[in-house]
Amino acid sequence: MGWKAIDRRTPVIAEDAEPLLGPAICDKIRSFFPRYETKRAALLPALHVVQDALGHVSSQAMKEVADLLEIPPSAVLDTLSFYTHFWDHPKGAKVIVQCRSLSCQMMGGEAVLAALKDELGVEEHGTSADGGYSLMTEECLAACDHAPCMLIGERLHKGVKPADVPKLLKDSKNDRIDHPRSSLFDGPAEEPVESVAEAAEAIGTTSDVREMKES
Ligand code: FES
Repeated sequence: MGWKAIDRRTPVIAEDAEPLLGPAICDKIRSFFPRYETKRAALLPALHVVQDALGHVSSQAMKEVADLLEIPPSAVLDTLSFYTHFWDHPKGAKVIVQCRSLSCQMMGGEAVLAALKDELGVEEHGTSADGGYSLMTEECLAACDHAPCMLIGERLHKGVKPADVPKLLKDSKNDRIDHPRSSLFDGPAEEPVESVAEAAEAIGTTSDVREMKES
């Protein structure tokens, strides 16, 4: 007798479903194409664009991204599921990521997490009843010298104390950053790189490469 396998991740996408990615989203994704040798290489920026616009990347959105990049939908799912940043199901309007690594734990991160749970009335991976916040923890946020830290949206909050939590959650701008995330994502499209050799030549000004050339 064979075991009956249940694939719970098989998406059901109606054939006649309206497209989720509107022209503005598609154009933004296409604007990344000239930067890379293949469309596939634009997958991560594309996922950022979709999640920014729609809040999460549903199975249908993954399929539409796959069509745009001319890759299998499974390749989109593979990448998306690797990064905890991406959500394949609806989340709260803002996501709080509390650091759970050593420095932050030693500096009181656990108490901050308890205060967040208390204030929001949720456990980890939960979403508050008003849909305002989802709460999760992750390993080091790369700001150990300011422990304990948390991200709200894309903004890093440093040296957070449990007593800061209520005020922090009420701040409507607690997730805003006032600078571009990166020139790659937010900057204007660059001239296409013709080949890997050309790209290597373009970056061949670092001292390591110079030394290798000279030896
Ligand atoms: S341990 Fe928390 S930011 Fe590194």
